[in-house]
Amino acid sequence: MRAIITGIAGFIGSHVATEMLQLGWDVTGIDDLSGGFAANVPEGARFVQRDCCSDLDDLFGEVKPDVVVHLAAYAAEGLSHHVPNFNYMNNLVGTSNVLSAASRFGARHFVFTSSIAAYGHPSTDSPLTEATACHPCDPYGIAKLACEQHIAAFRDYYGGPDFTIFRPHNVFGPQQNISDPYRNVMGIFFRCAKQGLPFPVFGDGSQSRSFSYVDVVAKCIAQSPGNAAAKNQVFNVGGDRAMSINELVDAVAKAAGVTATIDYLPARKEVLHAHADHAKARAAFPDVYRDAIDFEVGLKKMAAFVQQMDVPAPTPCPAPIEIVQQLPPSWKNV
Ligand SMILES: NC(=O)c1ccc[n+]([C@@H]2O[C@H](COP(=O)([O-])OP(=O)(O)OC[C@H]3O[C@@H](n4cnc5c(N)ncnc54)[C@H](O)[C@@H]3O)[C@@H](O)[C@H]2O)c1
Repeated sequence: MRAIITGIAGFIGSHVATEMLQLGWDVTGIDDLSGGFAANVPEGARFVQRDCCSDLDDLFGEVKPDVVVHLAAYAAEGLSHHVPNFNYMNNLVGTSNVLSAASRFGARHFVFTSSIAAYGHPSTDSPLTEATACHPCDPYGIAKLACEQHIAAFRDYYGGPDFTIFRPHNVFGPQQNISDPYRNVMGIFFRCAKQGLPFPVFGDGSQSRSFSYVDVVAKCIAQSPGNAAAKNQVFNVGGDRAMSINELVDAVAKAAGVTATIDYLPARKEVLHAHADHAKARAAFPDVYRDAIDFEVGLKKMAAFVQQMDVPAPTPCPAPIEIVQQLPPSWKNV
């Protein structure tokens, strides 16, 4: 069975590729290396450097994938306000392009990583379930929700491919890019710990998230094409342990063995508390959740990964800033 994985040189994509290779898939990966690293691509996978927004017919025609797992995206939620055109081209039009190629060459299943950003500001204190109404509040989340709707409408119209959509949140672990100044607080904190810099915190640090060690996310994604309970379904996926950003500072400092200092920055307009319910994913992927690596162990694995690496050069902004108004001052000099 053949799979094409987009975003294979990225953080989650590289873990998904490893899992799918172990499950016996013949894996071809695409990535334009705008946010990932060729070294992340696991041995055994074929790698093609390619932009998902380009003509993909030669590659899809050659591979004729049974399954396409589409993870390629520029995943900087906060920055998406300031690069909306780029966000929609790369994340929404790019997804449409990959889905069309998948359909033209007979893929039977399309797996897509959406995001908890699809929900927007929660209207309840309870964890978000897949039945919660989605009101995304930034271009990144809007593109993710539009992709979800496009994938479902495409299947309704053409009769396929079947799909599985995941809404992960705050994923962390080895292979994560710690050098992108615009995204992923966990990676930024670990980089600051390694470089002896203060940890930048937007606002007062009371905003909260549930951080998700990558194993559960990658395993659910990798197993979904072979899981009947995942056919044409949407799942929240990730960890359950809620913590404030201030608590995360302490946890990362402890794991990295440093004493943290904090650089409190002006607050951004952002969702303050975002937590997802995972009952549906637990029911569909019971073995994955039973064997899940917990937050503390995951943090140790992340710390070990960061300790043995050289800090990569800062990842450049993938597109010129389109709207500078309200750009966080700390991003102006990046
Ligand atoms: N990491 C998280 O916490 C999280 C949470 C929710 C959703 N997601 C989603 O999961 C997916 C993977 O995220 P990640 O954290 O691994 O990010 P990542 O940046 O590490 O991986 C994404 C990969 O896609 C590649 N890419 C981007 N645009 C491309 C294009 N046009 N053509 C080809 N390749 C392209 C990048 O080079 C990168 O290697 C994304 O779709 C993201 O939106 C991630």
